Amino acid sequence: MTIDTIMRVAPVIPVIVIDDVAHAVPLAQALVAGGLRVLEVTLRTPAALPAIAAMKQVSGAIVGAGTVTNQRELDAALDAGAEFIVSPGLTEPLGKAAIAAGVPFLPGIANAGDIMRGLDLGLDRFKFFPAMASGGLPTLKALSGPFSQCRFCPTGGIVKNNAAEWLAFDPILCVGGSWVAPRGAPDTALIEQLAREACALR
Ligand code: 3PG
Repeated sequence: MTIDTIMRVAPVIPVIVIDDVAHAVPLAQALVAGGLRVLEVTLRTPAALPAIAAMKQVSGAIVGAGTVTNQRELDAALDAGAEFIVSPGLTEPLGKAAIAAGVPFLPGIANAGDIMRGLDLGLDRFKFFPAMASGGLPTLKALSGPFSQCRFCPTGGIVKNNAAEWLAFDPILCVGGSWVAPRGAPDTALIEQLAREACALR
């Protein structure tokens, strides 16, 4: 699988924060049942790595690690079985390590220099982060002019009510957001419903 393939699986990638590994499987099952198969588990809690391993047992789930900021975290995520890697920004050491590992990699960009650093490494699929705070859709539209070969997953401040507007812009293959996976013990019926609504956005 390439990062492009992963970005096209569903219109929304849930950005997940797991506090208790016992929440991981029911949450993943609910999201997958609602049609969201690509799951980004952020490395922001001690439960994240065991949660990645647990969620991978859910049939249909494609489980990656988010908030990967350096090679040590990259290695830990790969050891846990992460199938793709998301980072909030792009450093050359992390980019080179992800490419060397051969893992689908979605680094964050917020301006032209970030994109150029990615292109130098051979990358052209990016997370636009933090999407709303970086100027929202007008900023990404402006960046897409000189960088028409790039495709994006905006994340950060995207919610049910503004996601469709982002998804209507062609270079956007999917959006990321936490609204489909509220933090805490999962209300699985609600999460499945949120996932269904998210799937219907495109
Ligand atoms: C991220 O961690 O990628 C974003 O902060 C998620 O942003 P959201 O909580 O605004 O969806």
